[in-house]
Amino acid sequence: MIIAIDGPAASGKGTLGKRVAAHYGLAHLDTGALYRAVARDALAAGGDLADAGAALAASRALDPATLGDPCLRTPALGEAASVVARDPDVRAALLAYQRDFARKRPGAVLDGRDIGTVICPDADVKLFVTASPEERARRRYKELEACGVNITEALVLADIRRRDERDSGRETAPLRQAEDAYLLDTTNLDIDAAFRAAIDLIDAAMGCAGRVV
Ligand code: C5P
Repeated sequence: MIIAIDGPAASGKGTLGKRVAAHYGLAHLDTGALYRAVARDALAAGGDLADAGAALAASRALDPATLGDPCLRTPALGEAASVVARDPDVRAALLAYQRDFARKRPGAVLDGRDIGTVICPDADVKLFVTASPEERARRRYKELEACGVNITEALVLADIRRRDERDSGRETAPLRQAEDAYLLDTTNLDIDAAFRAAIDLIDAAMGCAGRVV
């Protein structure tokens, strides 16, 4: 069973992906971490993100064992990730890892921007999770504040809008809702309500309400 969850920055798809995977006993891959790790490694090697070669080398040498690195979550790496993610060669270098991950038994939940459209177009269920930019900024700001990051909510909102634009406007694998994806707008839902709504949609789509896969 493969569940694809896409959506814009800070829409809550990561938290949702983790909980949905645990609910069905599936593996979970936060594909944003791949692009963040490529940006981290390219910068650590002294590379310039404007130089396609540095990100491509980092994407080809990426060690998946480093994807749990908590430093990947910084706003700066989110921004840098969206720059390297525009490069079709970087995306191609990360494709096989994501598809292999999805194919492993008993199945997986992958969250990102292009899972339902490019990585797993045949996923059993696709969700497109979104929320208003203001609500996403409010949530991300609270998270960052709790981690002691010194930033304002207005800056977080500006960052989110810039990333939305870059991710939706790029030529290769832009952020968009797959035609057969269910839309889940979490603007007025807390994480528990969003989780229940996601499970209801998935169970209904699988025709197996209440069954744990
Ligand atoms: O999801 P997260 O905010 O961690 O992703 C960081 C960046 O990585 C996104 O803004 C996007 O540019 C890129 N990304 C992508 N495709 C994915 C996942 C993330 O282009 N499947």
